[in-house]
Amino acid sequence: MSRKNLNIGLFGFGVVGHGLYEVLQKTPGLQATIKNICVKDKDKKRQIGPENFTYDKNDILNDPDINVIVELIDDADAAYEIVSAALKKGKAVVSANKKMVAEHFQELLQLQRENNVPLLYEAAACASMPIIRNLEEYYDNDLLESIEGIVNGSTNYILTKTFAENLSYDAALKQAQDLGFAESNPILDTGGFDAKYKLQILLAHSFGYIAKPEELYNIGIDGIGDLELKYAKEKGLKIKLVAQAFKGAEGSISAFVIPKFVGPEDRLYHVDDVFNGVITKTSFADTHFFVGRGAGAYPTASAVLSDISALSYDYRYEY
Ligand code: HSE
Repeated sequence: MSRKNLNIGLFGFGVVGHGLYEVLQKTPGLQATIKNICVKDKDKKRQIGPENFTYDKNDILNDPDINVIVELIDDADAAYEIVSAALKKGKAVVSANKKMVAEHFQELLQLQRENNVPLLYEAAACASMPIIRNLEEYYDNDLLESIEGIVNGSTNYILTKTFAENLSYDAALKQAQDLGFAESNPILDTGGFDAKYKLQILLAHSFGYIAKPEELYNIGIDGIGDLELKYAKEKGLKIKLVAQAFKGAEGSISAFVIPKFVGPEDRLYHVDDVFNGVITKTSFADTHFFVGRGAGAYPTASAVLSDISALSYDYRYEY
């Protein structure tokens, strides 16, 4: 298969951006080069020299040599501005921004269609676990009945540490932040919003259903108290934050995010720390179980890398 050479304009050089920079250095087979990196803060000390950076997004968006935009910034509104401008200019885009995708799903679909350019975002749902690609490619004829899983690494890490190692909630959250797992506003994790955005993405690729964030109810882990933890321990259960979607009568779809008690017979019971796990149920295959690291620099960069590689052979989602 002939592959395109890719010249990348990167937005953001935080945990994932820096991770991508490093994994690209270790991937010599891929004809992809970061040509320019746009960051906000001029004074921040970085591991590579200032000559690699620009502070003006137009330096990248207007560069005709750059054919791929990789968007890895923290702010969903600013990300949408960049991504929509790039798609309008006919540049393919890779993003890891689940909030941006979830909040602008319809507009992003339209922009892809109107400009005939792909937007890929494997890293936005479950980081390194290739769940979107599997939902897109495998289940065309064996129809999905339900999808359920742990899709947020930080809350799974916190639940694991508080439950098994008796760490305090605040100490476990601090560790999740220090390890680069948590969102910069951790309420997005602990309140179940990040899981909800990922569930929206999974819904689009499993059932072709584009939900708005306000359509799906999310309950996070903040309300889990000593009583629930004590109950779980007494009964030999664990508490997991689970995103769930299933088809009901006449094609209706129910989807939500809730903490659940799970026992050892449930595969999600065994998904601990920063790992994510997703169980799909289909008409013919019975169930599949996907598992992988759900956050962190290299695992997330691995999914971004996979999308970049897919663009080199013009891959796009069919939905
Ligand atoms: N804050 C997210 C999580 C990062 O903990 O899952 C990966 O999407």
